[in-house]
Amino acid sequence: MRVFVDCDPGIDDALALAYLAACADVEIVGVGTVYGNNSVEITTDNALRLLALYGRPEVPVAAGAGRPLVQPPNLAGHVHGENGLGGVRAPEPTARPVDESAAELLVRLVRESPGEIDVLAVGPLTNLALALALEPRLPELAGRVVVMGGAVQAPGNVTAWAEANIMNDPEAAEAVLGAGFDLSLVALDVTMRTLAGGRWLDDLAAVAGERAEYTHRFLDFYVGFYESVLGERACAMHDPLAAAILVNPELMVVESVSVPVRVELNGAHTRGATVADLRPRPRADDRPAVTLVTEVDADGFLKRMLDALR
Ligand code: BDR
Ligand code: CA
Repeated sequence: MRVFVDCDPGIDDALALAYLAACADVEIVGVGTVYGNNSVEITTDNALRLLALYGRPEVPVAAGAGRPLVQPPNLAGHVHGENGLGGVRAPEPTARPVDESAAELLVRLVRESPGEIDVLAVGPLTNLALALALEPRLPELAGRVVVMGGAVQAPGNVTAWAEANIMNDPEAAEAVLGAGFDLSLVALDVTMRTLAGGRWLDDLAAVAGERAEYTHRFLDFYVGFYESVLGERACAMHDPLAAAILVNPELMVVESVSVPVRVELNGAHTRGATVADLRPRPRADDRPAVTLVTEVDADGFLKRMLDALR
């Protein structure tokens, strides 16, 4: 399969890239970067370093949006460290970003190979919204789209209601979720139940080799943050879970529902909330439905994630 990754690396973004890079049947056709966990300059530099580390230095990296469509960005140095990778200096990049923007690269790739390019979006959705503005037929031209974002029944992580990727650009997220993509939403509802705990981290520490060693060092800072949230030595595997769901939905997804999901744009307390109509008999709705993943094989994923780093 051919995959375009839009990301803001970011420690869990790094794991998503590691996961995809380890899948022999996945061709990463391009990586777009976006502000989010850090500035777009830093996430772009990190993407180049990570692709070199994980053995895919040839993948074109296109720098994307430096800010959301409407509001100022809200960066997450307290979760991912001052350089986005837990303060760890990853190996030097072996390439430079391409001249196109992330949105331009995505649009060109899907026009060249209609229906063949799947998209993994694990950062704020600004680049996808910009790509939609450049090419309104994007939902027909792209293959499957998996988005890590939102909190439907689970609590948010930046506010009581909103998850970071959606909250960083609610207008972009609202446009993308309503555009008619064949889209699966991997929200905190499942990612906060897919935790890499102490035992998994110890198993990773025992894996030899540069990739596993660096990844374990990146995770140190991230686990420190999650420990303060969860009260245990563990961390949430948001972005790599979304990657695994893109590659092997039949193995990873235990349960899902097809529902329209809207993003609250106005609420005084609920801006950025992802609102799904989960009533047993929802009213007819002309908004296109997305697949909301509601149950995953967390243990199966954690095993595969570890194998990917071996
Ligand atoms: C999402 O926000 C970012 O901090 C992570 O990389 C992930 O994509 C989780 O809310
Ligand atoms: Ca991310």
